[in-house]
Amino acid sequence: MEAPERNLALDLVRVTEAAALASGRWLGRGNKDAGDKAAVDAMRLSFNALDIKGHVVIGEGEKDEAPMLFNGEKLGTGQGPAVDVAVDPVEGTNLLAFGRPNAISVVGVAPAGTMYDPGPSFYMQKLVVPAEAKDVVHLDAPVKENLTRIAKALDKDVDDLVVFVLDKPRHKQLIQEIREAGARIELHTDGDVAGSLMAIDPRSKVDVMMGTGGTPEGVLSACAIRAMGGEILARLDPRSKKEEHALIDAGRDLREILTVKTLVRTDDVYFAATGISGGTFLAGVRYTGHGATTHSLVMRGKTGSIRYVEARHAFDKLMQFSSVKYD
Ligand code: FBP
Repeated sequence: MEAPERNLALDLVRVTEAAALASGRWLGRGNKDAGDKAAVDAMRLSFNALDIKGHVVIGEGEKDEAPMLFNGEKLGTGQGPAVDVAVDPVEGTNLLAFGRPNAISVVGVAPAGTMYDPGPSFYMQKLVVPAEAKDVVHLDAPVKENLTRIAKALDKDVDDLVVFVLDKPRHKQLIQEIREAGARIELHTDGDVAGSLMAIDPRSKVDVMMGTGGTPEGVLSACAIRAMGGEILARLDPRSKKEEHALIDAGRDLREILTVKTLVRTDDVYFAATGISGGTFLAGVRYTGHGATTHSLVMRGKTGSIRYVEARHAFDKLMQFSSVKYD
């Protein structure tokens, strides 16, 4: 028997809460850069208080391209475990800017060298299913066949299923095939990390996430799927000749099917997400005049613990010492 160890996820939830509290002020104000910047600044400050030797593997572009949490950035005090860090301070920057549901702040952490590095890949095709259906799907199977198998594994009918799909022109054919199979669809303009979380979370009515979205978002989703159970099947899906050539030059195999185990090569993974704009999945930040409430999902892969955290933040106390301005 071992004494309980530190659960880094409980530190990480403070990081996503800080990002959500700071960026939630920008809900619907039409300024996606300001919302993102507020989240990035709060997230960086909170991360740098943690005793980790963090290395950003999934960030927001290269150092010179973005004044953001960039790939290769070092995070933490430099004490403690060496870890790969995946961040998306605001996943769904447009959702936040236009006050649409399901903008969330997300982080994943795992031991150094265990997270898939997207390299020059921006987009991947993804299929996310809950644990019960993890062994019955194939990325190249016809949509109807996958949905039939998923329904059977979940002890449902196909017309009971809800499939999360990003509402993009590239998904016209996919949407048609899902409709022909008889399943129901939730179309969202953005936010396929939330879509993946909904697919694996038994509390959500979504059963499956299908379609092409960001590669970094796929790795972040895999952190949660590794911790909660379920599967993500994915394949790099370049959306331009430039991206395709960069992947080939980097020696990437465009046919390889990636799984949750190849995207995150350990069970020792930590994940936290906090709602910003709110939605059916995680409630958003509610400011109360003197403080705010946040709702988060926190997971640790090694132990399988999953926590839904409702937190109350008292700005009159917090602002006496916080360097992030929340009030
Ligand atoms: P951002 O928060 O970076 O704007 O990403 C939102 C998002 O919808 C992701 O959830 C998704 O993976 C990706 O963009 C899809 O990209 P695109 O909008 O270019 O199709």
